[in-house]
Amino acid sequence: MRSTIKNVGLEFPISEITINLAPADIKKEGAIYDLPILISIMKASEQLININLNDSVFLGELTLNGEIKAVKGILPMLAKAKELKISNAFIPKQNEAEGSVITDINVYPVDNIENLILHLVGERALPKAVFRDIPQRSIYEALDFNQVKGQYFPKRALEIAAAGGHNVIMIGPPGSGKSMLAKRLPTILPDLSLAEAIETSKIYSISGLLPINTSLIKARPFRSVHHTISPAGLSGGGSIPRPGEISLAHNGVLFLDELPEFQRASMEVLRQPMEDREVTISRVNGTLNYPCSFMLIAAMNPCPCGYHGHPTKRCICPPGAVQKYLSKVSGPLLDRIDLQVEVLPVDFEKLSNYHLAESSADIKKRVNNARQIQLERYREYNDVHCNALLTPDLLKKCCVLSKNAQDLLKKAFEDLNLSARAFDRILKVSRTIADLAQSEDIKSSHIAEAIQYRSLEQLKFAN
Ligand SMILES: Nc1ncnc2c1ncn2[C@@H]1O[C@H](COP(=O)(O)OP(=O)(O)O)[C@@H](O)[C@H]1O
Ligand SMILES: [Mg+2]
Repeated sequence: MRSTIKNVGLEFPISEITINLAPADIKKEGAIYDLPILISIMKASEQLININLNDSVFLGELTLNGEIKAVKGILPMLAKAKELKISNAFIPKQNEAEGSVITDINVYPVDNIENLILHLVGERALPKAVFRDIPQRSIYEALDFNQVKGQYFPKRALEIAAAGGHNVIMIGPPGSGKSMLAKRLPTILPDLSLAEAIETSKIYSISGLLPINTSLIKARPFRSVHHTISPAGLSGGGSIPRPGEISLAHNGVLFLDELPEFQRASMEVLRQPMEDREVTISRVNGTLNYPCSFMLIAAMNPCPCGYHGHPTKRCICPPGAVQKYLSKVSGPLLDRIDLQVEVLPVDFEKLSNYHLAESSADIKKRVNNARQIQLERYREYNDVHCNALLTPDLLKKCCVLSKNAQDLLKKAFEDLNLSARAFDRILKVSRTIADLAQSEDIKSSHIAEAIQYRSLEQLKFAN
């Protein structure tokens, strides 16, 4: 501080200086306090007289020669400043794109102390941040569902999952295209609303993951995590708790490839957050909540060798291996998955067919329409915006079955020996299938389709 102040030609007071960062029980970290400390010293040493700074916030790191450098978390901090009815915010120029998102508060991006002081003393006003809607090149641009040959059934399952926000698991032998399919899910997810974009961007801002010159994250996040991830890596943690992968997937997708390879503890850590849509991280000095409303997509082989149920290759696993393999996956986690779909390798003829399959853009149109119907239907319910989030009460109210559909479901229930949980899941999924068909009622054809996405339950009865 002393060097910076001297280097920019200001005066460092000779007296002893005590800086009190209050409240004391909140841990502070990072370079973010540089600029506010400098301004405080200026103010206390009467170098900024007759300037009212009471309704201003200052955020930024300083270099020794007085440049103001980018810091993490500008977006949520400005959102809070707005809440506190602060009028002026001075932020690092490098964070301008991010800071420009918050309106109704004067946001001044500034690159060095000199320009800041000139503004404060009224000699040269700083321009305010302007929101520029810079088009973002999607990182998924090269990916499209039209590159996946065949696989009508899994693609349809992903379309339903995207439309209704359902969790989905894909089960199939190695090389059948599970990872390929999952990676293309972001290309058909419904558009992000502005409110959702701000929420997600806040988490990226705190984590320092908002790319430079990016005001908002505009595409739903897709977080693919490796199975070696620790429980804290998933849920968030550290002495000053940072958002974990589940929060980075907020309003988007968390992809767990090779699900049985994950540590049991990592799977368990997902349970509560999947239910509550937020995660609570406890620390000595209090608890912290981060939102984590994500869609889970998981992929797994059906057995250790991978070839159980394969049309041409023989499974070489000993008896009981399938069950044992399945039991590695946490039961309560599987209970929260609405769609279970088998992915079998497509045969050579389909693979060598040059005919392009349906494009992601076309699928996305249907997904967007179906999601719009849901947003409209659940308008009065705060926490529900898609079918996956239906509560048992709402389920009864919004999933009215035709007589035929009811009979079919009853019969399936008896024939397939379904659990009560499976019943709710089939209802939710058939609600989404009906929405994709723009049908107010759930018809028997919708129920019939929903019943097909129960591959895991079938696997449980395998040898
Ligand atoms: N239906 C398909 N259409 C086009 N390519 C495919 C298809 N299925 C598999 N492939 C090819 O096989 C590769 C392996 O698939 P992958 O998604 O890694 O399988 P898995 O995750 O099920 O083991 C893919 O990257 C792709 O090149
Ligand atoms: Mg794979």
